[in-house]
Amino acid sequence: MWKDKKIIVGVTGGIAAYKAASLIRLLVKSGAEVKVIMTPDATNFITPLTLSTLSKNEVYTEFYRDVEAGGTWNNHVELALWADVMLIAPATANTISKMVNGACDNFLMAVYMSAQCPIFYAPAMDLDMYKHPSTNRNFKLLESYGNIQIPAEEGELASGLIGQGRMAEPEDIISFMLDNLQEDKKPLSGKKVLLTAGPTYEAIDPVRFIGNHSSGKMGYAIAERAAKLGAKVILISGPTHLKTTNPNIERISVTSAADMYEQAHRYFNDCDIAILSAAVADYTPRYVGEEKIKKNTKDFNLELVKTKDILQSLGDIKTTQFLVGFALETENELENAKGKLERKNLDLIILNSLRDPGSGFATDTNKVTFINKQGVFQEFDLKPKTEVAIDIFNYIVEHSHA
Ligand code: CTP
Repeated sequence: MWKDKKIIVGVTGGIAAYKAASLIRLLVKSGAEVKVIMTPDATNFITPLTLSTLSKNEVYTEFYRDVEAGGTWNNHVELALWADVMLIAPATANTISKMVNGACDNFLMAVYMSAQCPIFYAPAMDLDMYKHPSTNRNFKLLESYGNIQIPAEEGELASGLIGQGRMAEPEDIISFMLDNLQEDKKPLSGKKVLLTAGPTYEAIDPVRFIGNHSSGKMGYAIAERAAKLGAKVILISGPTHLKTTNPNIERISVTSAADMYEQAHRYFNDCDIAILSAAVADYTPRYVGEEKIKKNTKDFNLELVKTKDILQSLGDIKTTQFLVGFALETENELENAKGKLERKNLDLIILNSLRDPGSGFATDTNKVTFINKQGVFQEFDLKPKTEVAIDIFNYIVEHSHA
């Protein structure tokens, strides 16, 4: 895998910089061509001579060289475009903050900002710095830029404190990157996944609507996971402020249940897996006011009619697609969910109960139970929605023909 791969290793100024030596040695031994960029601070922890000897290439530390003799410029764009992969290890809190903000005050940052290849970074810092809200925010922002974090490990830190913040071991960094880069490790390569997510808004008049509290977080987490596993994703989304990060996700924005129905049917025939996580309105106003409705009368009755059940309608026409629905129940949960699975001709139903604290709408966590056609159910602990998405695809990859 690493044979002839061109890798830039960026080393920044933290004590974990000493591990960069074995990291570079391992990469070179496995056939990669490695060029190292050090920040000026990193050279206080480990010498450029060590890393240039191990990488068998010169090490870059500055924008310019041989300044006294007239000077030449290190071309950051050329170097950035040379790379197949870029890895910043260790990545200090300071460098991470610069990556977030595009602060380009050293050569490594200039290369980082010019790079077009996958970028990995391995944070290393003391545990309080690691837990700091700004670090947390920066991690999320880097994720939204498409940078891939190699999480720090728990253990004894150079300060003597014990906790998370220790840079991952060189062997683990390399296998983490391998997992991420290997196309054949992407079980949904070539597959199409159709998703519905978020709420629907049913117009009453030009300024009012009937909506619900769905945030779309579960559906968006599913979309990111499917794309990460190599699928092409069509995400039919009701109104939400959420954004997608993976270029393999095509978002189709809709407002009402009727729009969502139309778009879902447009893409269903061509998909391999359909997961309907949207909180679709069950009723919609029979008449939509053309003008804003005036409060002229004491009482006001709104006549509602049933919307079409998108999930049911897809279950009715499904051929080879693996169809997954969600159920939000408050009573007789398992029984009701099982009934829905049969009625709507689903392959899997994911039950979330509003009884579980931390589960359901607008939270970052969810507690779900999977129920399949054979009636077998599998209960999971409360966990982040991103991890629920992983469980969902572990199941689908194992049980579908996809
Ligand atoms: N769903 C849908 N279209 C609708 C209503 C629901 O596609 N018009 C889908 C949801 O996306 C979800 C599943 O149906 O995957 C279950 O939704 P839920 O509201 O729990 O159940 P309902 O079918 O609406 O049944 P009930 O209101 O009786 O609980």
